Amino acid sequence: MKPNYTLHKDFRLPMGFPPEAFDSGLAYQAQAEDTFIVTYPKSGTTWTQHIIWMLHYDGQPLPVGKNINLEVPHLEEIGGEFVNSLPKPRFIKTHLTYNLTPYHPQAKYIYVARNPFDCAVSLYYHTKGFIKHYDFAEGTFDDFFECFITGEVDFGDYFDHLISWIHHKNDENVLFLTYESMKNNPKAAIVSMAKFLGSNYVRKIENMQILENILEHTSFKRMSLDQSRWSSERPSDMTPFIRKGEVGDWKSHFSVSQAQQLAQKFKTMTKNTEAATLWELPELI
Ligand code: A3P
Repeated sequence: MKPNYTLHKDFRLPMGFPPEAFDSGLAYQAQAEDTFIVTYPKSGTTWTQHIIWMLHYDGQPLPVGKNINLEVPHLEEIGGEFVNSLPKPRFIKTHLTYNLTPYHPQAKYIYVARNPFDCAVSLYYHTKGFIKHYDFAEGTFDDFFECFITGEVDFGDYFDHLISWIHHKNDENVLFLTYESMKNNPKAAIVSMAKFLGSNYVRKIENMQILENILEHTSFKRMSLDQSRWSSERPSDMTPFIRKGEVGDWKSHFSVSQAQQLAQKFKTMTKNTEAATLWELPELI
């Protein structure tokens, strides 16, 4: 069993994403004031969107009734016209590889990488839960793994994404973070994002109340409370969008052989790049 996707101009577009929105999203002219939040799916995008939103709105959490994907819109889902209609500065989410992401030398790019093992598990539950689109409710992790390891999933191969961005890790207008470092020290992640956005944002978090508010309202526990702000269309008997938020959940899903295959692919694909040392690989048994 395989989850379906739309093959649009060689791109694996999720079911339900209008191809014309994808096209207009790619044609969007990046602006100097833009900040892009860039991830491979399931790497902590929504968490980062909410941090950025709260930084911008002086520590106010996203109110119930609003949807983060309209506030920090997903470029290739909603299209360039919608994004162009937003006031500046704009905060934009994308899952595009480096070469497809609209570029402006003064725009900022926050890239969050997550280890591929946990990404695979998270994407599996994500895909299962959107039953309206994927018809994969009965799919097993073994089914899904076969697609993930060959890159036959929404947005394509995990490694194509990571490798396209790792070469820009040290660019001046790129802040490169990992999900694991955000989990390990969320306060440091928020501070680094504020510094990256500029002195106005640093001044905001010098107010301890604002910083504490952001920490509290972007915690896994608080974000789990009202999930309608992050995603829709998931039936109540499926795992919620904000699901587990752990590092290492893959260990209870992967077989030894699957771990070996993904570790081997990781080694091959990240060879001679800085991505090779982002995470400790599981022991190859
Ligand atoms: P799990 O499925 O492993 O729980 P994205 O937003 O890119 O789709 O990523 C979703 C993943 O990030 C999910 O991982 C989700 O639970 C996790 N996540 C969302 N908000 C989080 C938070 N505040 N803290 C930690 N993890 C969070």
